[in-house]
Amino acid sequence: MEQKAEMPWRENASRGSRLRERGRGMRAESGRTVWVTGASSGLGMYTAQALREAGWIVIAGARSFSEELRDADGMHRFPLDVTDEDSIARFCERAGAFSPRVDALVQCAAILTLGSCEETTAAEFRRVMETNFLGMVRMNQRVLPLMRKQGSGKIVLFSSINGLLGIPFQNAYTASKHAIEGYAEGLQMEVRPFGIQVCLVEPGDHRGGSQRTRLRAEAMGADSPYAGSYKKATDRIHHDESHGSDPGKLGQKVARMLGRSRLPFRKRIASPDQHLAVLLHGILPPRFNEMILSGYYLSGRSQ
Ligand SMILES: NC(=O)c1ccc[n+]([C@@H]2O[C@H](COP(=O)([O-])OP(=O)(O)OC[C@H]3O[C@@H](n4cnc5c(N)ncnc54)[C@H](OP(=O)(O)O)[C@@H]3O)[C@@H](O)[C@H]2O)c1
Repeated sequence: MEQKAEMPWRENASRGSRLRERGRGMRAESGRTVWVTGASSGLGMYTAQALREAGWIVIAGARSFSEELRDADGMHRFPLDVTDEDSIARFCERAGAFSPRVDALVQCAAILTLGSCEETTAAEFRRVMETNFLGMVRMNQRVLPLMRKQGSGKIVLFSSINGLLGIPFQNAYTASKHAIEGYAEGLQMEVRPFGIQVCLVEPGDHRGGSQRTRLRAEAMGADSPYAGSYKKATDRIHHDESHGSDPGKLGQKVARMLGRSRLPFRKRIASPDQHLAVLLHGILPPRFNEMILSGYYLSGRSQ
């Protein structure tokens, strides 16, 4: 039996009813519903596909999805900009038309800006924080009232190894992922009494990310005082990502994890050397960590 639940995001009831009618006609699935943000490319896209294959009703959001409903492969794609409250409200309304439940929310939407701390502007930092951190906060605030009423729900937040340790010239992104890590710890304590579980997925390098989301601080030109070390670090970052792990396997791991009744609070999906880097970061004095990571990113050793 379909469980009725309040849709706190609903702003326009008549439009909502029209969409629900349309949704009923198209909905063939019966199963749990998951919303996936940042599902147009990279790990979000592979995770959404794996969840679809595992039988979930997948409502996928990203900026590049068109207004025209696209669900040719059984996945429901709607435009979503997590920095824009109106876009979020429209997405929630459309998602509610397909399924009044949100059994899980998987948040993958993110951008990355490469640049030195000195030359990345406050506006460039703000853009990354608005997407990666505040975008998550906004989406959580939409689903939490619903999950509380359901008495259950799973929230998966994509962090990163960079949520645990910093690397040079990826500072805005690193700051946003550290923010997510701290936020998630408090969130889990607040919502567990309502039957809601929170999980941080911490990927290491994976292939397949979009270039659309990889930006560069505008001031990072050839005359930057950091130009030499910036080039070495970003060559290393690009190399590691393009030789990274299989994104399809990560998607399947996340789908398997969401199929279980209990979520781990942290799920690190990374290569052995990245696991080791996190371990050492926790136990070595900061100066040693700095030597290891500077040596890796700034030495320009052949890759
Ligand atoms: N790839 C890796 O090696 C790696 C490592 C660690 C962590 N991660 C994390 O995994 C997640 C996916 O990263 P990725 O590199 O695999 O994929 P990606 O190709 O960079 O995908 C990012 C997604 O976010 C969406 N997005 C960006 N801004 C948005 C906004 N304002 N509103 C809604 N959606 C937005 C993009 O779609 P549109 O442009 O269509 O909006 C895209 O679907 C991210 O959270 C990332 O931090 C990735």
